[in-house]
Amino acid sequence: MVLGATGQIGSELVLELRKRFGGENVIGVGHSRTPSEAVLGSGPYETGDVLNIERIDELCEKHDIGTVYHLAAVLSGVGEKRPQFAWDLNMNGLINVLEVARERDIKVFWPSSIAVFGNNCPHVNTPQDTVLQPTTMYGVTKVAGELLCDYYHRKYDVDVRSVRYAGIISAETPPGGGTTDYAVAIFYEAVRNNRYTCFVNERTVLPMIYMPDCINAAIGVMEAPSERISTRHSYNLNGHSFSAAHLAEIVRERSPGFTIEYEPDFRQAIADSWPDSMDDSRAAKDWGWRTEWSLERMADDMFTKLRDRKASGTL
Ligand code: SER
Repeated sequence: MVLGATGQIGSELVLELRKRFGGENVIGVGHSRTPSEAVLGSGPYETGDVLNIERIDELCEKHDIGTVYHLAAVLSGVGEKRPQFAWDLNMNGLINVLEVARERDIKVFWPSSIAVFGNNCPHVNTPQDTVLQPTTMYGVTKVAGELLCDYYHRKYDVDVRSVRYAGIISAETPPGGGTTDYAVAIFYEAVRNNRYTCFVNERTVLPMIYMPDCINAAIGVMEAPSERISTRHSYNLNGHSFSAAHLAEIVRERSPGFTIEYEPDFRQAIADSWPDSMDDSRAAKDWGWRTEWSLERMADDMFTKLRDRKASGTL
């Protein structure tokens, strides 16, 4: 079961899981957004709010669920506008899922984030284990969530696994209100108008990964033998680190005449508080994580997909 099946990751994870395990065996669950035709047409879909524990429990019972990917959450930008809501959805959603998992012996995937880090840890090759003092509500919920996952594993033996995602670049469903969204929006706007106004400055460096790698990491950590999982908090996951200016160059090479302006807003401070890159050697060693998409190949694929969507009128 994928909670958050209408979101950026969920809408693509559902399809990949269905490819691997069969359409009928993967239940998409969404709440506020409309699911894509691909999600609706390839297997079961239900509506459900992660804040409603009875509903989540009922869906697990109805579909005899063995594994939950819990992706429903508020991202960093929206979290700063609505901090109490971010706390409520991110924390109570997670504890509801962990409670149902405890009762029903369900395996859980829950994504943490680069947002667990703050200003007072190394920002280059940030270690797996370091000071976690985030400055955003989103980051606060991710640190607390990691602790909660580890607690449920220790106390109740819940098989919960997690990775710390950085920015995720994808061409199907746009992200909903994060700080790393500029790295997605730049491609969309290049294809739509050949220009983009970027909300962080050109020197901003953050790690990013492409959606197929993001999905491989989720399924990879979930399929690893339990004894290989050496942390129940969350694994650093790096991908590629590049500046906004470098990304703009990559885009311009594929979209001649592309122009970019920089108008940093409140998300600049968030981006500055996050690492430039993370040391993800633990994930590599424990369960074989590695990125398969270079920045160049990802950019080619983004343009192919978004241009196809534009041609078919869905962009
Ligand atoms: N992509 C997320 C955000 O920007 C980071 O986990 O909020």
